Parts: sequence; structure tokens; C-alpha cells
Amino acid sequence: MTIFLIGMPGCGKSTIGKLLAEHLQLPFFDTDSLIADMEAMSIPEIFEKHGETHFRKLEKELIDHWKVTNAVIATGGGLPCNNDLISKLNTKGKTLWVQVATDELVTRLSSSHDRRPMLDGLSPKEMKSMISQIFKQRKPDYQKAQIKIKGEQDNDQTVRKILRKLYT
Ligand code: S3P
Repeated sequence: MTIFLIGMPGCGKSTIGKLLAEHLQLPFFDTDSLIADMEAMSIPEIFEKHGETHFRKLEKELIDHWKVTNAVIATGGGLPCNNDLISKLNTKGKTLWVQVATDELVTRLSSSHDRRPMLDGLSPKEMKSMISQIFKQRKPDYQKAQIKIKGEQDNDQTVRKILRKLYT
């Protein structure tokens, strides 16, 4: 089974992905980590030095050449929504959208220590408006996911929901 987790930054793709991979006894990958490793640069550094367009090109190259099967993969929040990569992901595995409300995303992202270049330096109010705007643009692509799950506060509960969806 190959599962691509998709969804907005802060929806819990990486945390849920790792837990899910453990349950399914599959390896876990994170597209941001793979890109950072291959470029020997953090994602914020890639944005700063080469810009977002270059980062999107790296995401596209990664998915165009994706060959790993039987794994759980957390994708960067914007990955499925650029260059119609959602359609590619849908041919390479099962896509699973983790849905979390905007207010909850803002709460989580405001207290997160991970840097997100698109949200750098924004106040919670500005962040809410930015997240709402980005989500509006991305929603039509996220909706093409084969499986849709409402992300719970408790990640273990979300994972149990996913397992039930996969097996029943
Ligand atoms: C991005 C989300 C980030 C990362 C990059 C761009 C986005 O990943 O890929 O900063 O455009 O939403 P997470 O969704 O894991 O935060």
C-alpha cells in the first residue's frame, strides 16, 4: 500500500504519517525532508536563495520520478496543488487529505517552531487571512484526494480513523 498524505501546513501530515507508517509497518517519507536532503539546504533556505518557483520545480521533479511503493509519504502543503501533481499522486498511490479547520491551523502554526517561508513574520490575524486565502486556492485540488479524513486534536484518534477507512 502506498499512501500520500496531503493537506494544509499544520494539519499534522508528518506526525500522523509517522504513526500510520508504524501501524502499517511501512517506511515513512516526507517530501520536504527528501528535497532538503537532496539539495543539502533547508526548505526556508531554498525559498530564500532560489524562490518558490524553483521549490515547486523540485517538488514536481520528485513526484515525476517517484518510484517508491509500499510506503507512507507526507507531502508539502502546496505540492499537490502545483503543476497538477494531485493527478500524478492519484496514479502512484492512495491520496489522503487530512482536513483541519482554519482556526485550528492558525492555533497550531502560531505555536510551531518549524519555519514556514509562506507564513514567516505574520501576526496571528495576518496568518489567518493568509491561510484562508491559500486554502481557498488549494481546496479544489485537495478535494481530488481519494480518501478524506477530518483531523482530530488527538493524532492517535486520527490514525485510528484512517485505519478504519482503509480496512472497512
Ligand atoms: C508549503 C508547506 C511546507 C513546505 C513549504 C511550502 C506550502 O510543508 O513544503 O514551506 O506551500 O504550503 P508543510 O505542509 O509540511 O508545512
